[in-house]
Amino acid sequence: MSRRLLVTGGAGFIGTNFVHHWCQVYPDDRVVVLDALTYAGNRLNLALVEGRANFRFVHGDICDRPIIDELLSTENIDTIAHFAAESHVDRSILGPAAFVQTNVVGTFTLLEAFRQHWETKAKSSNYRFLHVSTDEVYGSLSPDDPAFSETTPYAPNSPYSASKAGSDHLVRAYYHTYKLPTIITNCSNNYGSYQFPEKLIPLMCINTLIGQSLPVYGDGQNVRDWLYVGDHCRALDVVINYGKPGETYNIGGNNEVKNIHLVELLCQMMDELATNLPVRPTKQLITFVKDRQGHDQRYAINANKIKTELGWMPSVTITEGLRLTVEWYLNHRDWWEPLLSEEYQAYYRKNYSVK
Ligand code: NAD
Ligand code: DAU
Repeated sequence: MSRRLLVTGGAGFIGTNFVHHWCQVYPDDRVVVLDALTYAGNRLNLALVEGRANFRFVHGDICDRPIIDELLSTENIDTIAHFAAESHVDRSILGPAAFVQTNVVGTFTLLEAFRQHWETKAKSSNYRFLHVSTDEVYGSLSPDDPAFSETTPYAPNSPYSASKAGSDHLVRAYYHTYKLPTIITNCSNNYGSYQFPEKLIPLMCINTLIGQSLPVYGDGQNVRDWLYVGDHCRALDVVINYGKPGETYNIGGNNEVKNIHLVELLCQMMDELATNLPVRPTKQLITFVKDRQGHDQRYAINANKIKTELGWMPSVTITEGLRLTVEWYLNHRDWWEPLLSEEYQAYYRKNYSVK
């Protein structure tokens, strides 16, 4: 079945990778990206697909109902892949308001618009609203706790994860109340190409390349379950095509790593792959800094449901994925250098000086 997709947040990290994936696998589908181009969005990310006849980029906000109504009807959209969000935990601690606005109000606005549109289409059974969410809604695990499953109770700890949890509840309620064909995915930490420098892996790659210290929060013992972004995009493809409306699917990489080990591994790879490093070995740049407020100790995903019901499994190991990612940042200085803007420096000073 061919689809007409609206991809919100398609100029961000995962959205960009998803658009590239979809346009390659389904070249005949219509793909419309709606993105507000906040600091995290970059239209140049989509240069590879901009020239295609069945691709369209729209600069706009998911809180702007008239724009969404217009797009849904003129483009005859049947599938929304909803990525748009404020996504960085540290920024949510410094300023939570934008998180409530985009993540909660924006998701609500999209749901209402899609519900109305779907009702004018006789509630077609092919319609889908994919809500891309996070494992952080489940809170924090102790070292011996079982991994998060789809039935783990919600316990978000940061303004970011609380706003994502709020949006998940709205999406769930729209299925329960109106039978709007929504699906939620809760995914673990992604990494790969086009990730904004503020997140752990690109930050460490870029800081080694510019000879700046590598700030590890607290004692570096926090654990994340890392998933290569290409594997996430394949999972979302399977969920859109074969997932069951009203269901939630957890997506994870089976790759639990302590932050300090991850940073040390990145340093080793940088030493091996980079030629002109300002400081070598890069490990000497590692600096332990004040911890993130309310820092979640451990995330881990039990991805058995998507494996047994939809046949998806991660395919890229952490070593392969990190190598691909380090190589990407090494080869795309022209992409990341302009992102180290005055605004970014101001955020950096604020975030790392309060820690
Ligand atoms: P990102 O911050 O890189 O990109 C977000 C995109 O949304 C940007 O292009 C930005 O311009 C756009 N955007 C922000 N506010 C908007 C608004 N009001 N209207 C329209 N567009 C707006 O985020 P990401 O890391 O690509 O994450 C994408 C989604 O996946 C988010 O919903 C996030 O919660 C979820 N998620 C991310 C991860 C991860 O590890 N990065 C893991 C699990 C889930
Ligand atoms: O788990 C999924 C989530 O993963 C997504 O929902 C979020 O959008 C995404 O940002 C990510 O959240 P984290 O807070 O886990 O990712 P981040 O890259 O910010 O941090 C990863 C770990 O590294 C975390 O334990 C904090 C630590 N860290 C991070 C930064 C930026 C450091 O030690 N130093 C740093 O400078």
